[in-house]
Amino acid sequence: YEKKEQLYEGKAKKVYATDDPEVVIVSYKDDATAFNGLKKGTISGKGAINNRMTNNLMRRLEHKGVPTHYVEELNDRETAVKKVSIVPLEVIVRNISAGSFAKRYGVEEGIVFDEPTFEFSYKNDDLGDPLLNTSHALALKLATREEIALIRKYTMMVNDLLKGFMKEIGIDLVDFKLEFGKTSDGTIVLADEISPDTCRLWDEKTHEKLDKDRFRRDLGGAEEAYEEVMRRLMGE
Ligand code: C5P
Repeated sequence: YEKKEQLYEGKAKKVYATDDPEVVIVSYKDDATAFNGLKKGTISGKGAINNRMTNNLMRRLEHKGVPTHYVEELNDRETAVKKVSIVPLEVIVRNISAGSFAKRYGVEEGIVFDEPTFEFSYKNDDLGDPLLNTSHALALKLATREEIALIRKYTMMVNDLLKGFMKEIGIDLVDFKLEFGKTSDGTIVLADEISPDTCRLWDEKTHEKLDKDRFRRDLGGAEEAYEEVMRRLMGE
């Protein structure tokens, strides 16, 4: 694929057009932001790790029947993906209490749930990504009832599969965020990334945090944590 003009620059990625109207190139940056962009920094090496980890996981999910936007890894930081319009929902699944769940409901982190929780927030930086339910999403016409049903089905498949992939490498999948997109023919596919930026990952024995909370909470060792997950997942 030939890289053409930049279409978009987000907090952690840039997107470029290609010579194929159905395909775009995602380029991962080392920039890190938290708290809706209020906290800014860089995690050196993060772009390459998130690119390669996302692609590894997307390929394995696709193989297990979850349709994704993945096309081809081009280099360390760049991947060709199907051009989609992003459904403006952040889909969040939790297996263990942490983060905004612990804060909102006044409970400690680390409570293992009997069943995963499923929630949406409205992907809208100006509003600070407010929590919303299915009827709100339908009222706002963010997706159709059928699309939401598919998104829920794929998300639960991703949770089961990802929990298993992580357990194999001694990591508990605490929670994660997914985004879905619609291709030009209206197909719903898993898009965006799956990385320590978008998942909470705790070592199953030490409960050490191996994710972006190291950056959000100034715990130090973010670079090393991302590298550790990468090493366990991909053997390097
Ligand atoms: O902050 P909260 O506890 O709601 O986050 C739940 C999960 O969703 C975490 O794994 C976090 O990394 C991810 N998330 C994300 N992008 C956001 C909000 C949350 O990747 N904008």
